[in-house]
Amino acid sequence: MPAQRPVPARRSRIAVFKAAAALALGMLPLLGLAIGPDLGAGSQDAFRQVGPQAAHILDLWRLTLAICGAVFVAVLVAFLYAIWQAPRATESRPPDLSVLQREERGPRRSVLVGIVISTLLLFVLIVASVLTDRALAALSLRDAVLIEVTAHQWWWEARYDDEDPSRVFNVANELHIPVNRPVLLTLKADDVIHSFWVPNLGGKKDLIPGRTATLQLRADMPGTYRGQCAEFCGLQHAWMAMLVVAESEDDYQAWTQRQRAPAAEPAEDAQRRGRDVFMSSTCVMCHAISGTLAGATRAPDLTHVGSRRMLAAGALPNTREHLSNWIADPQQYKPGTNMPPVQLPEADLQNLVSYLSSLQ
Ligand code: CUA
Repeated sequence: MPAQRPVPARRSRIAVFKAAAALALGMLPLLGLAIGPDLGAGSQDAFRQVGPQAAHILDLWRLTLAICGAVFVAVLVAFLYAIWQAPRATESRPPDLSVLQREERGPRRSVLVGIVISTLLLFVLIVASVLTDRALAALSLRDAVLIEVTAHQWWWEARYDDEDPSRVFNVANELHIPVNRPVLLTLKADDVIHSFWVPNLGGKKDLIPGRTATLQLRADMPGTYRGQCAEFCGLQHAWMAMLVVAESEDDYQAWTQRQRAPAAEPAEDAQRRGRDVFMSSTCVMCHAISGTLAGATRAPDLTHVGSRRMLAAGALPNTREHLSNWIADPQQYKPGTNMPPVQLPEADLQNLVSYLSSLQ
């Protein structure tokens, strides 16, 4: 066996600096994350909390980051120090390995201290986590807005509850809530496990078929916040988004009044013809439009589809062009979606789009 050539001391120290530089470079992507991508419709940012629930979670996250960051740096420093101190050799002088023969007192003490500190820090994190959980549960629900959210592959159904059944209404993929008032969400799943997550407002909660979960939130600042299904639920999991519009109490009341009302009567010929197309094609087998004969609940309620900002659970901005492309070929935008292509003569398609867009 050929004798190993000892590594010159200078070269191994350069290797230490190279390792440190590589680690520093490796951190750069984190900077990109901190700046955050531009998502178009609404903000989706756990760092810009707009309510007490998200604030509690952000505090816990910061504490966890501080502790884990400090541990990470301490381990790195110890690692670099060990490499720096390691026995070195040159071509003419073999390394001094006598330390390996001696019993090590110092390192044993360091390991013990490390174990004690790690245990204490983990304990701090457990306590902080329990306290955060308690704080999340302590949100007052006086005068809360009650919304039942059902997750489907791949869209969100929401039913606004009321003691008076005539005031209950359904929406899809866009929730409105009043600022400074708690919201109690009852969460259900229709098919597989999904997860409700609006980062600006609070944490995640799984929606599990056959079970009912609840989540309480409050928005303290008006704005449009994007939510995203946070549990892989099939092909279009990434396009299972929703918008939560937090607005003043007056705007919220005005919105609920509009949503409760049955669909507007068509005002123009094109819209009237569009309604006939809707009622005589496959649309009516899955969708509901209140005030008409369409009452199916397989797919999003379209009573006020024209008032929504996005189509297809956040996949497309709600414009005439997108709506007609979506109806003609949904699979092009969301392969695997349950909505089949609707083959219509161009004039019928345009009338249908006119009708649906008029449903404000
Ligand atoms: Cu629903 Cu992922």
